[in-house]
Amino acid sequence: MTKINNMTELVTQPVTLAQISDTHLLADKSALLRGRNPWLSLSAVLQQAIAAQPDGLLLSGDLAERGELAAYENVRTAIFAAQRQGDRPVKDGVTDTALDLPIYWLPGNHDDLAAMKSAFQSPCFRGLQAINLGTWQLILLDSVLPQAQVGEGRLSSAALDWLHLELCQHPDKPTIVALHHHPVPVSIDWVDQMQVQNADELLAILDVFPQVKLVSFGHIHFEFQHQRQRSNRPSIAFYGCPSTHLQIDATANHRSPGFRLIHLHADGTHQTQVCWLPLEDEQ
Ligand SMILES: [Fe+2]
Repeated sequence: MTKINNMTELVTQPVTLAQISDTHLLADKSALLRGRNPWLSLSAVLQQAIAAQPDGLLLSGDLAERGELAAYENVRTAIFAAQRQGDRPVKDGVTDTALDLPIYWLPGNHDDLAAMKSAFQSPCFRGLQAINLGTWQLILLDSVLPQAQVGEGRLSSAALDWLHLELCQHPDKPTIVALHHHPVPVSIDWVDQMQVQNADELLAILDVFPQVKLVSFGHIHFEFQHQRQRSNRPSIAFYGCPSTHLQIDATANHRSPGFRLIHLHADGTHQTQVCWLPLEDEQ
């Protein structure tokens, strides 16, 4: 975002996204899922994420465990509650629909797209579209394969054509692409069976558009990063976001809920880091 200080100095600040992924919420806020309450985990993550004063939230799928409308309403309630409790200013008398933190979303393999759309009708929610972030562009892709066998994903021809068109139309905009499923292997066999099945088609597009700087996804439930080299072009960074609920890697450092902060700088560079909450027994 561009801000003017003292009417004379033009200062360009980064756009910061807080990526929240794989929240796996249930309709019942008090219910446990595999031994942990996903509502409480999400609420704790949101409190920390909002405190970082992001310019937007990026919700990268598997927001509900069973696709229930009430679960998405719980996602919405948790986000609005975190904004009210955080430092972000909210005017007196404001209603949920007038909260102004943009929330960018896309579905995962556990989600029900119709229920998501129904729950996310407030103007601050923007799903499955190309977002103008000022200097940067964010492209939200649907990688859900209906009737998937093991949670694998696929990008439809329509989605790939749309991505190609958006990249052709904005060659000068540094671009972040977001989707649920991982388009690069993460070196765990059973997890890689659930990646984007036609990832080669996606990568073939990304490889020829140098404005694409990074790709961020959920689905894998652990922190991941990879650099893909492109001939005669800068590399693309791929990032996996941990879950706000449970991680696949249950070793000591990776049991707690986490999220990712992504800082997009006006010069086309970016920085990112994963933030972990303390484990319950450390709180
Ligand atoms: Fe998930």
